[in-house]
Amino acid sequence: MAEHVKIFQGIRAYGDEVIHGCFSKVGVGRLKGLVSTTTTFIFFFFLLLIAALLNWMDIRGTSIGQSIFNSRTSKTYHERIEFPLNCSNSVNLPQTCPENYPSVFQPQESSARTCPDYFRWIHQDLKQWKSSGITEDMIERGKPSADFRLVIVNGKAYVEKYKKPYQTRDVFTIWGILQLLRLYPGKVPDLDLLFYSGDKTMIMKRDYKGLNATSPPPVFHYCGEKAALDIVFPDWTFWGWAEVNIKPWEETLRAIKKGRERIKWEKREPYAYWKGNPYVAKDRVELLKCNLSDKNDWNVRIYKQDWGKESQQGFKHSKLEDQCSHRYKIYIEGATWSVSEKYILACDSMTLLIKPKYCDFFSRSMVSMQHYWPIRRKNKCRDLKFAVEWGNNHPQEAQAMGKAGSKFIEETLTMRNVYDYMFHLLNEYSKLLKFKPTIPSKAHRACAESVACLQKGLWKDFMVQSMVKSPSHKLPCALPPPFEPQAIQASLDREDKITRQVETLETEYWKKTKP
Ligand SMILES: *[C@@H]1O[C@H](CO)[C@@H](O)[C@H](O)[C@H]1NC(C)=O
Ligand SMILES: *[C@@H]1O[C@H](CO)[C@@H](O)[C@H](O)[C@H]1NC(C)=O
Ligand SMILES: *[C@@H]1O[C@H](CO)[C@@H](O)[C@H](O)[C@H]1NC(C)=O
Repeated sequence: MAEHVKIFQGIRAYGDEVIHGCFSKVGVGRLKGLVSTTTTFIFFFFLLLIAALLNWMDIRGTSIGQSIFNSRTSKTYHERIEFPLNCSNSVNLPQTCPENYPSVFQPQESSARTCPDYFRWIHQDLKQWKSSGITEDMIERGKPSADFRLVIVNGKAYVEKYKKPYQTRDVFTIWGILQLLRLYPGKVPDLDLLFYSGDKTMIMKRDYKGLNATSPPPVFHYCGEKAALDIVFPDWTFWGWAEVNIKPWEETLRAIKKGRERIKWEKREPYAYWKGNPYVAKDRVELLKCNLSDKNDWNVRIYKQDWGKESQQGFKHSKLEDQCSHRYKIYIEGATWSVSEKYILACDSMTLLIKPKYCDFFSRSMVSMQHYWPIRRKNKCRDLKFAVEWGNNHPQEAQAMGKAGSKFIEETLTMRNVYDYMFHLLNEYSKLLKFKPTIPSKAHRACAESVACLQKGLWKDFMVQSMVKSPSHKLPCALPPPFEPQAIQASLDREDKITRQVETLETEYWKKTKP
């Protein structure tokens, strides 16, 4: 009952129109005792009348009544009470966290869809601590590797910052976690975690081997690799990358989908395109050698991205939605994983994926020759040339591969899935804790207001755009079970086999082409 009162107080603050949202949710009986003013009473009476009327139509066996009622109820779900950002404090005072946001999660359904396959990696990433559990001592030892510590107690988040990382990655990551708490209020369990927001993987397996070795600390990070134990978490760009004007993922994907409509695949340049900053990785500098020159045409067109210059010119030449102009798009890692992968795959062009060493949370379930064409690191220019030739000679297959990559991104990388991934990862993680999380003495309460109200410009715009305005009415998807140990090996073997088949095709091609 207390929860309903809280929710209702929230509604009242936002005017009458939102009572629709609550009507189907809280239910008639409970609302009755709370509504007091005459206007709302009349309104309420009117609703009852409509309900009675529809009910009557239904009894009469008219399907119209039913369908009207269905569309009404499904609509009310979308007219849920919204809690916009409330930056009401005067500038000099620290922003307080409003207490009117619902503190419990009340889904309007009892069963959930199953999460996409890549959620299975959650179990894999946490496996290291499965038998030992996670102790307070491990957290202590992980501190030097972390930029911040985030603690959740009773649905509220507390943050202690240790270091100032690059740009505002940490701020947007914390922002993302706060949105998860708003999406599923009261559902994210108490936890205590360390986060590292740099590029390089932090917790290396080799450092925890040998006689005197301690058990590795759990540290959340944006990417993983075979040699590391970092726990993979969605990167900050899903909520926006303000420094380079990349909007939150939902807006960016919408723009790319529109942008790719402008040129049909057949009309696109029949070459492989890459644009980015080459000077962050050796492999990227090597890729420059594949660009068109007086001597060679490897079917590759490379463009340097100078972010400093772009920022001065208002980012006119770095719009992702204008980069679906070529039939083939190259993905190459930066210092480690690259946030560009989702933007590249979304273009509907065939992705030529230079074999990655690192992984983010979603790409581990992609399949070569279905979602992308694999390219070897050591043989880039020749592999790229062959892939483009092949695609131009097999336009239907190449197009289908481009489409499949985009479909994977659009369907499995929705923001809902990003939040559900975070939810399940945090939920499984919290199960491993051997201690009861408490608020560290140096930590500060964090809520949407305490983070966003201080921001300006794009930083603030992106937060307002990506803010979760009301609790979900749906359950998080159902977490699939861990992989069978053989399953991972089998899929690696399958990948190897496919890659070898591509290499064989290529060998044949070069035999015929080069004398
Ligand atoms: C915003 O917050 C202030 C202070 O916390 C509160 O008085 C006010 O009612 C809030 N406004 C809304 C629309 O919730
Ligand atoms: C392990 O610890 C002991 C005692 O502290 C020390 O003497 C020894 O050198 C250590 N061994 C390794 C491999 O670090
Ligand atoms: C690659 O070649 C194209 C076409 O000649 C040229 O416009 C572009 O600037 C080159 N890129 C780099 C990074 O040199």
